Amino acid sequence: MGKKLIIGNWKMNLDMHEASLYLHKLLDTLPSHRDVETVVAPTMLTLQSLSLQVNRRIVKLAAQNFYWRDHGAYTGEVSATQLRGIVDYVLVGHSERRHVFGEGDRDIRAKVQAAIRNRIQPVLCVGETAHERAADETRDVLHDQLVGGLANVTSEEIPEIIVAYEPVWAIGTGENASPDDVKQAAKIIRNQVEHLFGKKAAGSIRVLYGGSVNVDNAADYLATKGVDGLLIGGASLDAHQFSEIVKKAHKV
Ligand code: PGA
Repeated sequence: MGKKLIIGNWKMNLDMHEASLYLHKLLDTLPSHRDVETVVAPTMLTLQSLSLQVNRRIVKLAAQNFYWRDHGAYTGEVSATQLRGIVDYVLVGHSERRHVFGEGDRDIRAKVQAAIRNRIQPVLCVGETAHERAADETRDVLHDQLVGGLANVTSEEIPEIIVAYEPVWAIGTGENASPDDVKQAAKIIRNQVEHLFGKKAAGSIRVLYGGSVNVDNAADYLATKGVDGLLIGGASLDAHQFSEIVKKAHKV
């Protein structure tokens, strides 16, 4: 079992001052754990200045989004090439990107490739909606999103990729997937990766759970078979709560 990966997704919250204060608190309270990797994903605006403040042995940075081209006439966008050296991870295909901004498999696939090309680890988010769950389509949705997102990746690149299982109905709702659901989903994800890239690749890919994780339920997911870490939204906005979750990961 490798390192646990704990990612805090701040979404469109915390201004420059708040973000810096938060990081300060986190660096103060978290020891550097060799068995846990702690990452925060602030807004694009604050990434550069936080990268100067951060101690990467304790906390690393992720971008919540980026554009898949490296340079050019793309007004308003930021590329993975420009994020290189600032972040270690990027979220790709978060459900809010898919559902609010209409990102499809083509964008997501291109972003996974752009991240790898720029030596940034992509965190590919997958998960079914409430409607799809009710129709018993979870397996098909995960299959389609994995095939769609990983189509142009090679088996050698798989260890660089993280898959986050984030059922849409559990994001920001306070409604959790049960550890058993998550275990099943992690198994489906690994089987699919094995089918596409072979057994070795399936064993090397890291799978996270995300969706209403908090201090009280974090340990249950961390102890779930096949789960290598957590992607945390709401509960990560509080530095104290987030560091408590990281400490739990250390103990599991
Ligand atoms: P949540 O968000 O923890 O607030 O449910 C998770 C996410 O969006 O990554």
